[in-house]
Amino acid sequence: MEASMPKRKEPGKSLRIKVISMGNAEVGKSCIIKRYCEKRFVSKYLATIGIDYGVTKVQVRDREIKVNIFDMAGDPFFYEVRNEFYKDTQGVILVYDVGQKDSFDALDAWLAEMKQDLGPHGNMENIVFAVCANKIDCAKHRCVDESEGRLWAESKGFLYFETSAQTGEGINEMFQTFYLSIVDLCENGGKRPNTNSSASFTKEQADTIRRIRSSKDSWDMLGVKPGASRDEVNKAYRKLAVLLHPDKCVAPGSEDAFKVVVNARTALLKNIK
Ligand code: GTP
Ligand code: MG
Repeated sequence: MEASMPKRKEPGKSLRIKVISMGNAEVGKSCIIKRYCEKRFVSKYLATIGIDYGVTKVQVRDREIKVNIFDMAGDPFFYEVRNEFYKDTQGVILVYDVGQKDSFDALDAWLAEMKQDLGPHGNMENIVFAVCANKIDCAKHRCVDESEGRLWAESKGFLYFETSAQTGEGINEMFQTFYLSIVDLCENGGKRPNTNSSASFTKEQADTIRRIRSSKDSWDMLGVKPGASRDEVNKAYRKLAVLLHPDKCVAPGSEDAFKVVVNARTALLKNIK
């Protein structure tokens, strides 16, 4: 089913939109919404049962926006309930907890659940996604760093924000940019606005950075077989240097990946005759 566009598009007129929250249980979806709408934080975990619904009004440029927010439960138990609510959505707040790797790894499955519910004719291209890397106040438990999250989001053309519902950091900025992007989308005939970085790095660069991050040793980092010759190492290095050099590549994490590649090459060449 095609995600339908709100009917009234004339600048200055009021607009009605639907946004939903998505992400694993306990990542902080309800708290992010509460922090923005009610300016408060509740530390006790009160799991959302099925869906929580709320309406709020916001002003974006010269338009008054009536926002219908559907806050979804993340628990798999509520799969059937959630499936009723994906259609006709203009914006998704997609949340993970920076201290829970599982919740980050689950983001693809959340997109898949939405896509499946929208069916073969559903179009996710005309929906604005704001990825929230939440609970950044818990710095010592953090296991998904900013560049990893940003790389995932921006390589899909999604907005990315570091947030804390507890301290409020990043929350207003996230909602303001999110609503602005939705209004832009509505005024652009349903095309997702270009985020700066969505077009500024390639899939190959993003995939290479991810591959290097998950490499287990220097051979793996350069993408050569253990025992490779100096020539093979140098050739692989040159290819990666062209792809990831900070002057050429602006993908999140590219600087670190480039350093890792330089160090891996140095370490390998020391031991190859
Ligand atoms: P479901 O409704 O079950 O899908 O969970 P949810 O994603 O809505 O999580 P919720 O907002 O209820 O928050 C879960 C727990 O995390 C609660 O105990 C919150 O107090 C806590 N929490 C949420 N956001 C933050 C945050 O930014 N920092 C910290 N430290 N805790 C947070
Ligand atoms: Mg909730």
